[in-house]
Amino acid sequence: MNRISIKYKGPLRGEITTPPDKSISHRAIMFSSLAEGQSIVRNFLQAEDPLRTLEACKQMGVDIEERTPDNEIIIRGKGLHGLTEPKNIIECGNSGTTMRLLCGVLAGQPFSTALTGDSSLRSRPMKRVITPLTEMGAVIESDNGFPPLRIKGGTLTPISYKSPVASAQVKSAIMLAGLYCDGITTVREPGKSRDHTERMLKAHGVDIRVKDLEVSVRGVAALTPMDITVPGDLSSAAFFIVAGLLLPHSEILIRNTGINPTRSGLIDVLQLMGAHIRLENERLVSGEPVADLHVRHSQLKGVDIGGDLILRAIDEFPILCVAAAKAAGTTTIKGAKELRVKESDRIASMAAELRKMNVKIEEREDGLIIEGREDLKPAEAISYGDHRIAMSMLIAGLTASGETTVADTDCVNTSFPGFMEMLGGLEA
Ligand code: S3P
Repeated sequence: MNRISIKYKGPLRGEITTPPDKSISHRAIMFSSLAEGQSIVRNFLQAEDPLRTLEACKQMGVDIEERTPDNEIIIRGKGLHGLTEPKNIIECGNSGTTMRLLCGVLAGQPFSTALTGDSSLRSRPMKRVITPLTEMGAVIESDNGFPPLRIKGGTLTPISYKSPVASAQVKSAIMLAGLYCDGITTVREPGKSRDHTERMLKAHGVDIRVKDLEVSVRGVAALTPMDITVPGDLSSAAFFIVAGLLLPHSEILIRNTGINPTRSGLIDVLQLMGAHIRLENERLVSGEPVADLHVRHSQLKGVDIGGDLILRAIDEFPILCVAAAKAAGTTTIKGAKELRVKESDRIASMAAELRKMNVKIEEREDGLIIEGREDLKPAEAISYGDHRIAMSMLIAGLTASGETTVADTDCVNTSFPGFMEMLGGLEA
């Protein structure tokens, strides 16, 4: 169990390139594995979570070659019906995306597969995918709605499903199962979750229709292979954006950052708080919008946020709490109940850890009310084994008046190996 001590060394200045997107890396490997022929994935995120997906695909017989110097992955796809029964249980580690998206694929296979994960993943709800996939014809055993899971796939029938949660993992699982159906499968969500699956499946030649909060997919015989370059992950850039805003005299350029509108809520919220963030060189990378972000130190003020805005910044909640803790005035975050079932209960985790730094916080079932303050007290923080809590508390520690220690930081490797090195490179 690793621990990191951190203290202010100076403003952040210089340029970084955002690490590859985690959500897109998972999908690039999984969908290419299902395609007919050879695909190339460039700029794949070499981190624990997407590597779980890669290993799972290998376990099901997909030929995947990793060309390390250029970080290119060559995938010789097996086609939708070419996967083979894995010999062992599939270990998804900490990765909800691996487990939930794979459920959709496995629902269409003529064999039975067991999936498990670490203690955090084993406490995350799976009924949200079990219910629709069972309705489509899969047989799924679970520990009362939690992993481990055993999925017996088979012939699926299309459904029109109204999801009770806005979740890209649920939507994607149903869409993937929909590929195996004869006809059109529809998912309707209460809010718009990230749309990487829609964009990428379209690029693989699938007939996808999107109408407001409803997505339809027509079953297909085959996916065409593709070459894809994974753009940078705004969820990783987020820690540097907030650090650059909070530390006086900082000015940084964060290159190659995904700004997909279903993910870019953090930028909007921070701009509402008064942040200087300028988007430069906007472009498309493999069908995903990308920009270079120019960030400089700004005095932030508290805001009230909820609804669509929080959904579009769902993974950025922990670092947003750090920005709110240092803003002038009160920030109210509502409509964030989903955060209770992420890698940790992120509402409770952030409330407990920021309180150690003397921040006044009121915890609500679906969010937090945070009183900003100028000085954060250095603290002995913990990560709850949650990568985004670990990195958020490290940034909080950087803004405090002394040395902060964050315990249990190995989890950073699930999404961002090299985080501390990248931070160090800007502190010169
Ligand atoms: C993800 C979807 C989101 C997000 C997670 C990654 C994805 O989860 O929080 O980090 O890659 O589809 P939900 O689908 O549970 O909202």
